[in-house]
Amino acid sequence: MTLILGRKDVEQLLTMELTLEAVEAAFLEHGRGTTLVPERIALFLEEYHAVIGVMPAYIERLKAAGVKLICHYEDNPKKHNLPASAGLVVYHDPATGMPLAIMDCAYITRMRTGAATGVSVKYLARADAQVLGIVGAGAQASCQIAAISRVRDLKRVKAFDIDSAATARLLQEIANLELETEAVDSPREACVEVDILVTCTPARIPFIQGEWIQEGLHIAAVGADMPHKSELFPGVYARADKWVTDLINQALVTGEIAGAIAEGAMSEGTLYATLGEIVAGQKPGREDDAEITIFKSTGLAIEDVATAKKVYELASERGVGVELSITP
Ligand SMILES: NC(=O)c1ccc[n+]([C@@H]2O[C@H](COP(=O)([O-])OP(=O)(O)OC[C@H]3O[C@@H](n4cnc5c(N)ncnc54)[C@H](O)[C@@H]3O)[C@@H](O)[C@H]2O)c1
Repeated sequence: MTLILGRKDVEQLLTMELTLEAVEAAFLEHGRGTTLVPERIALFLEEYHAVIGVMPAYIERLKAAGVKLICHYEDNPKKHNLPASAGLVVYHDPATGMPLAIMDCAYITRMRTGAATGVSVKYLARADAQVLGIVGAGAQASCQIAAISRVRDLKRVKAFDIDSAATARLLQEIANLELETEAVDSPREACVEVDILVTCTPARIPFIQGEWIQEGLHIAAVGADMPHKSELFPGVYARADKWVTDLINQALVTGEIAGAIAEGAMSEGTLYATLGEIVAGQKPGREDDAEITIFKSTGLAIEDVATAKKVYELASERGVGVELSITP
C-alpha cells in the first residue's frame, strides 16, 4: 500500500525541530560520503516561464530513498491565482523500490530550505548573532526565519521585498516568533548592521553589493538556484573568508557563482567546503568573529528525502493520510 499525503497532512505533521534534525542528519551523511545525490535535472519551459525539476536521492544510513518532482511556474500567482511551486515527493522503500508514500512537496521544500539555512547558521554564523536581514518575503521567507530562530537567539528581523505587501504579509506571518521586526526600504538597509543575511528572491540581476558587507556577517544565499538567477554581486564573494555550498556542481552553474567566477572574484578552487563536510567535522565552521561566511544554497534532494522519511513515519504512527493500492 502507498500512503497519500496532501499539503494539510504534511503541515500538520512536520515541525521545524524535526526538519532541522532531518536536514542536519542528511548533511552529516553527505559529508561522510554515504549518500547518492546527483545534480537535479531541470527542464526550462520558456513559454510558461517555468522550470520542472526532478531530484532523486538515497541516504544509506537512514535507509531513505525517493524522488522529488517540483514545478516552478513564476506567473502562476498573478495569471492563474495558483501557487508558483507545486509537486510531489515519492518516498520509496530502498530495499524493494515500492512507493511507500506520495506526498505534497511544497511545504517540505519550504521547511527543508529553511532548515538548510538553519544548519548553515548553526555552524557558520557568530554564536551571538541576534539580528537578521532578509531580502525576499515570498514563500520561503517565513521558514528561513523560523529555522534561524531555533539555532540562534534571534531578537530582530529587518525585511525588504520589492513588493511591500509581501513584506507586510511576512511580518504578520512571523508574529508568533515574538521578534522585533522592521520593513526596510532597500536591500542595503537589510544588509547593514545585521549578523545574518538571507537572500531568497528569484532575481536575475544581483542586488547585494560587496562594499555593504560587514565583518562577521554570515550570508545564506538561497534564491539563485538556477543558471538565470543571481542575488549577490561578485564583489560579495570577493569579500568572503569562507564560501560554502551544498553541492558544488549544482552551485557552479547558478548565475551567481558562474558570474562571480567569470569576473575573477572567486574560483571553484576557493570553495572552502561543502556544508556536509563541515557538519561531519572534516573542516571547521566559523573560526573567529570577524570572518565573513557565505552558504550558497541550491537545494539537495537528500534534504527532501530525509524530511519525507520523518513525515512518512509520523503519518504511519498517527494514522494520517489515505492508503492506496498503486502497485500489486
Ligand atoms: N536553495 C534552495 O534550496 C531553494 C529552495 C526553494 C526555492 N528557492 C528559490 O528561492 C527563490 C524564492 O523562492 P520563493 O518560493 O520564496 O518565491 P516567491 O515567488 O514566493 O517569492 C519571491 C519574493 O521575492 C521578491 N523579489 C523578487 N525580486 C526581488 C528583488 N530584486 N529584491 C527584493 N525582492 C524581490 C518577490 O516580490 C517575492 O515576494 C526562488 O528563486 C526559488 O527558486 C531555492
